[in-house]
Amino acid sequence: MENNILKIENLSCNYSQIIALEDISLEINKGEIVSLIGANGAGKTTLLRTISALNKPKNGTIFFDGKDITKLDSDKRVGLGIAQVPEGRGLFTILSVEQNLKLGAYSRKNKNIDEDLEYVYKKFPILREKKNDYAGTLSGGQQQMVAVGRALMSKPKLLLLDEPSMGLAPIVVEEIFDVITTLRDMGTTIFVVEQNAFLALSISDRAYVLENGRVAISGKSKDMLNDSRVKEAYLGA
Ligand SMILES: Nc1ncnc2c1ncn2[C@@H]1O[C@H](COP(=O)(O)OP(=O)(O)OP(=O)(O)O)[C@@H](O)[C@H]1O
Ligand SMILES: [Mg+2]
Repeated sequence: MENNILKIENLSCNYSQIIALEDISLEINKGEIVSLIGANGAGKTTLLRTISALNKPKNGTIFFDGKDITKLDSDKRVGLGIAQVPEGRGLFTILSVEQNLKLGAYSRKNKNIDEDLEYVYKKFPILREKKNDYAGTLSGGQQQMVAVGRALMSKPKLLLLDEPSMGLAPIVVEEIFDVITTLRDMGTTIFVVEQNAFLALSISDRAYVLENGRVAISGKSKDMLNDSRVKEAYLGA
């Protein structure tokens, strides 16, 4: 049996004339945290959106758990166990915290979601306190917790996170990344886009660096922390 949960082969993606991704091949193994690093406009969000079927690829194949999912729409992919926390969080600001969380379970056949709500509230106790508040009234960090919690409600096998630390205070970033590490320890595989390369490499097992839509560097995160190209371009050393 293959160990990868996600395998991408020769993926390309355009926005009309703009080439956003070119000939991307990568693998994510079960139980790993893999980070995706790159400058603004490198194609990170496009790659995550293509994995979720929110963008259509021009070429290439995407396998999930050994199955070709390239032609499946996004609902089907959520049903298989792919959940995305989008850049900017994508909450419904005039719905309550709990309503936002429950939306994460919409694609599940098993609607017995109280246990999962309980799990999210255990991970993020502040969300229980604020469960009846409008999501839009929460702080940035609390909103990010709702976004992660909502993704967890779909019981994902693969969690895609697009810049979870964006705009958050360091202490909150730490909380979010603690949860990410705990999720990995419990068996969820995680693919995380992060501008903060040091943070990304510190918590991940492996990493890919995107430059102009291509994979420029890849390897074990701890090796990449010492890689001179990575240091110079992404770690400010
Ligand atoms: N909806 C769109 N229409 C046209 N071009 C787009 C669109 N979205 C992204 N692009 C372009 O595709 C390229 C990759 O963008 P993408 O958003 O994937 O990069 P990113 O690595 O996520 O950047 P950032 O760090 O700023 O979030 C960029 O050149 C961007 O301008
Ligand atoms: Mg982006």
